Amino acid sequence: MEYNDGIEIMVADASHERYVDVILATIADSAAKRGSGIVNRTHEYLATKMREMKAVIALAGPEKEFAGFCYIETWGHKQYVANSGLIVVEKFRKHHLATRIKQMAFTLSRVRWPEAKLFGLTSQTAVMRINHSLGYRPVAFSELTDDDAFWRGCGTTGHPCCVNFDVLERSNRKYCVCTGMLYDPAEHVGEPLPVELPDEMVKKLQSL
Ligand SMILES: CC(C)(COP(=O)(O)OP(=O)(O)OC[C@H]1O[C@@H](n2cnc3c(N)ncnc32)[C@H](O)[C@@H]1OP(=O)(O)O)[C@@H](O)C(=O)NCCC(=O)NCCS
Repeated sequence: MEYNDGIEIMVADASHERYVDVILATIADSAAKRGSGIVNRTHEYLATKMREMKAVIALAGPEKEFAGFCYIETWGHKQYVANSGLIVVEKFRKHHLATRIKQMAFTLSRVRWPEAKLFGLTSQTAVMRINHSLGYRPVAFSELTDDDAFWRGCGTTGHPCCVNFDVLERSNRKYCVCTGMLYDPAEHVGEPLPVELPDEMVKKLQSL
């Protein structure tokens, strides 16, 4: 699908570090409005994601105004890749911008780690719809990574990050308010990627 709204979606790099503060403020503001918890991400964490080309940013118009963001990370010795920190600035919502950002993050993940399973945790209908259209399916948490470092993002005993962390803790990580969704590449052999990246970009990403 073509969108003529002047919003460009790209793999972020070191040149986008100047957007980190506005990204963090937008995430914090949105979490406060939704009454949800957030993983505490520092400026350095997001800047490192950009430098490592593990993030996607959307910029609007000639002013290159910040419009949306998400980042990816590998877990369980690169057997899994998760999308996290998805945010779209309020005035740009409901125009399939999150869809386009997630399509780029999906492509980035598949190019860099073709064998890895992709997964995410979400309680948002919009994100479930997008994931479903990319080929993710809902699964029990036992099918997701058992990497402690990932689950620490939801919180630790005495230091919850998410408002629902107590549910996750009580269930011994078996379930929570979020739905776990998984894309298993073995179930999608030969399917095209949602975004066609230039050859040079593919080579660069595969060399990282
Ligand atoms: C969730 C969020 C990223 C969606 O961004 P967006 O750009 O508006 O999403 P899209 O326009 O790509 O919508 C994707 C689909 O979900 C639907 N949708 C969008 N917002 C929705 C909502 N609030 N409720 C139900 N469905 C919704 C869209 O209609 C679209 O469906 P379609 O493809 O069948 O037309 C945005 O609302 C946001 O930043 N929220 C705050 C942060 C957040 O919740 N992040 C996700 C953490 S897991």
